[in-house]
Amino acid sequence: MMGQQVFIFDTTLRDGEQVPGCKLNTKEKLALAVRLEELGVDILEAGFPVSSPGDYESVNQIAKTLKNTIVCGLSRAVQNDIEVAAAALKPAKRFRIHTGIGTSDLHIKYKFNATREEIIERAISAVKLARNFTDDVEFFAEDAGRTDNEYLARVIEAVIKAGATTLNIPDTTGYCLPYQYQAKMEYLVNNVHNIDKAILSCHCHNDLGLATANSIAGVMGGARQIECTINGLGERAGNTALEEVVMVLNQHSDLGYRTNINTRLLNPISHEVSEIMRMGVQPNKAIVGANAFSHSSGIHQDGFLKEAQTYEIINPELVGAEESKIVLTARSGRSALAHRLNKLGYAYARNDIDVLYPIFLQLADRKKEVSHDDLIEIATAYSK
Ligand code: KIV
Ligand code: ZN
Repeated sequence: MMGQQVFIFDTTLRDGEQVPGCKLNTKEKLALAVRLEELGVDILEAGFPVSSPGDYESVNQIAKTLKNTIVCGLSRAVQNDIEVAAAALKPAKRFRIHTGIGTSDLHIKYKFNATREEIIERAISAVKLARNFTDDVEFFAEDAGRTDNEYLARVIEAVIKAGATTLNIPDTTGYCLPYQYQAKMEYLVNNVHNIDKAILSCHCHNDLGLATANSIAGVMGGARQIECTINGLGERAGNTALEEVVMVLNQHSDLGYRTNINTRLLNPISHEVSEIMRMGVQPNKAIVGANAFSHSSGIHQDGFLKEAQTYEIINPELVGAEESKIVLTARSGRSALAHRLNKLGYAYARNDIDVLYPIFLQLADRKKEVSHDDLIEIATAYSK
């Protein structure tokens, strides 16, 4: 396949599971991890092992089970966190320790009551310690979105020197605009001397609804990894939705990037995640929402029935969705009515449709959606 690879780092089981009410047990997490490996994620963040015995156990079971995917565990830049993460991950074929610390002045002052120089020292020590367990160490500069670029570049250069191989630049609060996030990546590419020894990663939250746009902008600025979750689950307004960034890169092949994701599993896995986490997906959600491939206005339905591409940029089959739907409402036109009747086995001529249409509209004005049964009733009454 052509294009530069963008690695997909799935954090549904870590950042996604931080959603209130989305708690999963080890068995559920393991089942989901296996599905995410089938989906083709390159790195799977299985949890935060030091946070609870249950999370340790889940990360450990996932580490024992996955065959190809790199299994990752989160830790703060704290010795015990890193050692516990390493122990939980040890059985994995390939594992990554994800460690880091807040780098914005707000975090440095209020969370750590420290200085910028002290934070750099703590970051270096954490990365060096993690490197004793694996040569795959990712460093996160929490709140990088609001971190001064010149200081961020110093932190990143220092942790690469200490052995970090992936640099996560989180827009922790979902504050950045796409052009700012892209510029931040570009700044790091141009100002961190040893940047060629590591991969930059996007980790964008959705507080302003910009997580997907920011992640794509980050890639355009030089990042080669996107951290994301199924259905965009995550803290507060959520993370970048995996299905969205994957399909943006897939649809815009002109950008020149590819991922390893099997797009046909996007809808099935979205439904599984929604069910297991008891978190419904909004109907108008891109790619995986119930209405993502539904057409309800007459103008759209007419165009779609003539040629699907007039109103659909993605073939639903490509993302494992059910076939496109023509929904009959009071906004539908004659062609949609004829199409749906035809599907039910009634091959009416144009004149018949002209007679049926006002009857249909009367019903549609009373109901949100005209169902199969309603249509059969209208057709039967008409034939009598
Ligand atoms: O949003 C964030 O900054 C995070 C880090 C822990 C990677 O989730
Ligand atoms: Zn996050």
